[in-house]
Amino acid sequence: MGRAKRVVLAYSGGVDTSVCIPYLMNEWGVEEVITLAADLGQGEELGPIQKKALKCGAVESLVEDATEVFVTDYAFPAIQANTLYENRYPLSTALARPLIAKLLVEAAAKYGADAVAHGCTGKGNDQVRFDVGITALNPNLKVLAPAREWGMSREEAITYGEKFGIESPVKKSSPYSIDRNLLGRSVEAGPLEDPMVEPPEEVFAMTKAIADTPDEAEYVEIGFEKGIPISVNGNKLAPVALISQLNEIVGKHGIGRIDMIENRVVGIKSREIYETPALLVLIQAHRDLESLTLTADVTGYKRGIEQTYGELIYKGLWYSPLKPALDAFIQQTQETVSGSVRVKLFKGSAVIVGRQSANSIYAPDLATYGADDQFDHKAAEGFIYIWGLPTRVWSEKHRKG
Ligand code: ARG
Repeated sequence: MGRAKRVVLAYSGGVDTSVCIPYLMNEWGVEEVITLAADLGQGEELGPIQKKALKCGAVESLVEDATEVFVTDYAFPAIQANTLYENRYPLSTALARPLIAKLLVEAAAKYGADAVAHGCTGKGNDQVRFDVGITALNPNLKVLAPAREWGMSREEAITYGEKFGIESPVKKSSPYSIDRNLLGRSVEAGPLEDPMVEPPEEVFAMTKAIADTPDEAEYVEIGFEKGIPISVNGNKLAPVALISQLNEIVGKHGIGRIDMIENRVVGIKSREIYETPALLVLIQAHRDLESLTLTADVTGYKRGIEQTYGELIYKGLWYSPLKPALDAFIQQTQETVSGSVRVKLFKGSAVIVGRQSANSIYAPDLATYGADDQFDHKAAEGFIYIWGLPTRVWSEKHRKG
């Protein structure tokens, strides 16, 4: 008796997930492997990947174009929540995982599979996101993670695959582990494992080196409606086009690189290089528009919610009950976050230089230092007396000398 009869495997076309196919069948007694490759805007042809899965022994090879849902249902809520894990990483890889988990669970239901599988190892965050996501969506499904158990090195996995006709990678394999989708690239391993080593230029693909960026600044105006980006320089754009276009514009100026040591869910510190040009600038612009349209107390309270939301995404809790509860708060705050933000892009930095909104609560007649000032200066005195009263009383009691 095997661990499962029919399995839907998350498939990327890489060595590890390819080896999973014969491994599941030959070592774990799985009868049928159905693979599922998701297009999340990684800019890779999925046709050859689809064929490769069949060559490796899959009975069925599914390809799902999920780029638009990825942007609208996963990236946009994260932008509305300004999520940055450990204040820096906009979760470009993490956001893809709950969507892939959902596609796996749906395919399992459609094809009558009793388990789903992925090629994650036991050291990363992605296994947590897949396993917890899948369990949340269907607690009756088994989750198989062969690469977590097989104990093979990469070379051993390649040799194992060769026995079943899986070609070893033609190119000299890259020392890096790379994850890529429309939102960004995550690169780790190889020389990057030494935290003191500067990332070689070859690890970047979406952003230019500062030396190669234009010598003139470029301005871009991003329009938002209820916290969702809808236009670039006045042109309304569909979600996927908007992100692609901004990736181009922003990346060209060398903006969007992150080099960080982060704390993984499993307790390991790891060094990751990210490139997320559009996402970073969108969060920056969105946050700025909030400063024009939300009251101080809502903004302040939201910061705490944002922190929790970012951790929830990073830690694989997208389908936990906390998520819709936080969403309810965030969505309520976004009702008035419409308008546009002007960003100046130059030599690796994005600076907000202007913002406007029909819902602006910036009141020029209160803010001005000019003659038409409407603020009641005399009222400040009484306010300050009462505001400072507890401190004054404390001081009268405890002041030394
Ligand atoms: N550290 C990132 C995260 O947990 C990315 C993980 C995948 N990284 C990679 N280079 N394959 O979301």
